[in-house]
Amino acid sequence: MSTGYSRPEVAPAPLRLDLNEAPWDADEAFRKLFLSFLERVELRRYPPMDARPAREAAARLYGWQVEGTLVGNGSNEVLAAALATFAAGGKVLTLWPSFSIYPWLIRRAGGSELRLWLKPPDFAVAEDEFFSLAQDADLLLVCSPNNPTGGELSPALWRRLLSLGKPTIWDGAYWEFGSDGDMRSWLTEFPNLMVTRTLSKVWGVAGVRAGCLCTSPELAKRVAAEGEHGMLILDEINVAMDYGLLPVGEVLEFLRSCPREMEVVCTGRYAPPELIELADLVSEVREIKHHYRQGVQMRQGIEY
Ligand SMILES: Cc1ncc(COP(=O)(O)O)c(C=O)c1O
Repeated sequence: MSTGYSRPEVAPAPLRLDLNEAPWDADEAFRKLFLSFLERVELRRYPPMDARPAREAAARLYGWQVEGTLVGNGSNEVLAAALATFAAGGKVLTLWPSFSIYPWLIRRAGGSELRLWLKPPDFAVAEDEFFSLAQDADLLLVCSPNNPTGGELSPALWRRLLSLGKPTIWDGAYWEFGSDGDMRSWLTEFPNLMVTRTLSKVWGVAGVRAGCLCTSPELAKRVAAEGEHGMLILDEINVAMDYGLLPVGEVLEFLRSCPREMEVVCTGRYAPPELIELADLVSEVREIKHHYRQGVQMRQGIEY
């Protein structure tokens, strides 16, 4: 099995700069409030499926509409859901260096990365180059202010990018440290924009694991539905691999990264032995009768 995203475990350290953790623990007032909330939770109950109370609280905190607000186990979870919704089979534009989890999430979602390298000494964004790459991308993923360079996209570049109308994720983990105060007006103007926010950074409570995604209700609905896909059919992928159109190694890596509970069906002849080895169920279709023999090579809507 391929390994998931991981971070190095180190000896206990007073400050993890590599994780951008807060230097101090949450203050007493926050701790009391948090614990008093936990005391009131009815542990016998299943939480609401749509996490409505948490979504309402996040919407109040960030000044956005509940229907366009989704919450997650840290902003990582909503980032993963947004990528899984929009990156599959497409090209995702990123800046690099940026948050180290992006390449892993993009690969896991079945997308490929299109990178603009930020170069020392100032790690500035070459705006025209970025915009021209954006025209070739299916999804844009930008962290601004960026981890780890601290740079921001200019409002003029954001406007150009968002005007392309492509789904665009603005990772706002460090939003409060930047100069774009008014998230609401960006979201109101651009329904294709998804902004992720978190309590882990400016609030300094990464251990609470609270993050959210703010977007238009239409996109929120699509992202929320993402986790509901229980089956993925990769029709004739075996033939594509046999023709050398898809590298077997990449397909296997993708399959290993699929959620365990998802049923994945790979069809077609000439399955590579490594795929047969990986699969739980392998069967062969044997011809008894075929319309091909009566001269019907293919039927519109069925074979093509
Ligand atoms: C840019 C960026 N986005 C998202 C996250 C994820 O934070 P969390 O899942 O704690 O909200 C981090 C964490 O360091 C980050 O640096």
